[in-house]
Parts: sequence; structure tokens; C-alpha cells
Amino acid sequence: MAWDKKDLLGLEYLSAGEILTVLDTARSFSEVSTRSIKKVPALRGKTVVNLFYEASTRTRASFELAEKRLSADIVNMNVATSSVTKGETLLDTVKNLCAYQIDVIVIRHAMSGAPMYLARNVESSIVNAGDGTHEHPTQALLDMYTLREKLGDLRGRKVAIVGDIAHSRVARSNIWGLTKLGARVTVVGPPTLIPREIEQMGVEVSYDLEAALKDADAVNMLRIQREREKLSLFPSLREYAKLFGLSKDKMAGLPAGIIVMHPGPINRGVELSASVADGPNSVILEQVTNSLAVRMAVLFLVTGGTSLHPEHLSA
Ligand code: CP
Repeated sequence: MAWDKKDLLGLEYLSAGEILTVLDTARSFSEVSTRSIKKVPALRGKTVVNLFYEASTRTRASFELAEKRLSADIVNMNVATSSVTKGETLLDTVKNLCAYQIDVIVIRHAMSGAPMYLARNVESSIVNAGDGTHEHPTQALLDMYTLREKLGDLRGRKVAIVGDIAHSRVARSNIWGLTKLGARVTVVGPPTLIPREIEQMGVEVSYDLEAALKDADAVNMLRIQREREKLSLFPSLREYAKLFGLSKDKMAGLPAGIIVMHPGPINRGVELSASVADGPNSVILEQVTNSLAVRMAVLFLVTGGTSLHPEHLSA
């Protein structure tokens, strides 16, 4: 088992072996959520703080459930009613929390690099739950876990990532992770949403969705971040949906078994029509289910779990 890291900051900083360690550990934890009593002692005596400075449904709920299923003690900070509203800095907030002998801080923050800044300044483990436009490593890990469950070894598999590549932390983490595991990655979107020189990350670029998907094993449809519409990066949602959204008609021309993914939340009728989001190729809710085992694995590993013994998984 390859893991000696205190923190999970991004997939840029993990080796292929470390990524596979998380995914294999997650597979061992996945069975816990099928039990009638969904709890194991792997994090008994450890304390985790969930500190979300940005909105979240899936990431926040699944981290909290993962912590509870591992028997950790948890604190959910409500940033809106915390002393952040009185001007307390991020580092002061986290240093004060760490004074309670906290083992892990799970943080989502609008500022790219916030988790790395904290990791360098506190002894507790820092887990990045999404930082600005930088990385969302646990999302990419659960995406890769889901793909491996469907496809097995990802070497040579083609995965298209579609949408706002320039502003997407999900895209960046998936690109780092998938290329390290040997997948072929194509990014697809309007030129205004694809960064210059993205090829240097080892991906291909396409501006034509149907051409890019004709030999793809999977497609990850990113959320169009409506908060960025004001930047006029594309003419209208209607035109975006026509060119880069997936509808039943477009699906008819794609490989029959293509796997359709989305990190959520979905803008129905923009990235995906309802018939595709809820259709037979969609694994979107499986991604959500798998997120639990993946986040359990991450929490176990950053708190020093080196190998999973039967007692970690005992009821
Ligand atoms: N995929 C994802 O990060 O969703 P949330 O913003 O709801 O956590």
C-alpha cells in the first residue's frame, strides 16, 4: 500500500500508486454501506471538522456520512454563523479549531490554494473538498472509482470531459488523475472555456462534441457555472446546450455503451436533457453512492491508516 501523506490537496501531488491505493482502499470500504449497521471503528477516537466556505450538497453530506460510518467525532462548522462574519481570518479560524486537537479539517473554499496554505501552517490533516478553480480531488477520485467499476483498468480508455474546462476544479483533478492512470483524455467545449496550452497536461482538445465522443468509453459533463454567465464566455445557454449538451437525439449517434457522468448539480436541459441524465447510460447516482467509500478511504489514509485490517471493518 503506497500512502505516506498527511494531507489530500490535489491529484497533481499524488502518484499513480497513491491514487490506486485510495481506490483499492475505497473498494474495501464500499461493503460497509450495504450492512444493516453501517458503522466501523476505523476512525474511533479521531476528530474531524467540516469547514465549508462555499455551498455544497453532495461533498458535504458524503464527508459527514463517511466520518460517521468510520466512527469519527465530527464538528460541522456553519461558516455563516461563525466568527468569520466578525472578520476572523481563515488561518486564525483553523488554528483555533486545531487547538481542540483536531485530526482532520475538510475544507471547501473559494480561494485556490487555501487548503495548501493551511496544510503548511497546521499539523492537522487537511483534505481539499474543492478550492476555487484549482482542484476537487475527492470528486475526481470518485469519478475514477466509478469508471474502474464499469471498465476495469483505465489504461488506454478514452474519457471526454465536456464544458467549462477553464474554470472547473473537477476537470483539473480528473485530468491529473486520469492521465496518471493511463487513460486518454479529450477536453471538449467552446474555445472560450478551454485554456490555452491545456495540451501540456497531456490531453487532446476538441470543439466538436459528437466527433470527440464517437470512440469514447465515457463522457464527464461538467456543470455550466451560471454564476459565470455574466462574463459572456458563450452566447447563451440555449446555444451551449445545442452545441455541447447531450440530448436523446445526440445519444443515438454515440457508442451504445458510453458511460455518462456528471459531478452535480446538473443544469437539466443545459449539459444534459432529463432523458440522458436519468437514462440507461447515466451513472450519476452511482457516482454519488461511490463517493462515500472513496471519502472513507481518504479519511482513513490521511489519519495514518497504512493497511486495512479486519478490525477496521468489524461491526
Ligand atoms: N460535485 C460537487 O462538488 O457537488 P456539491 O457542490 O453539491 O458538493
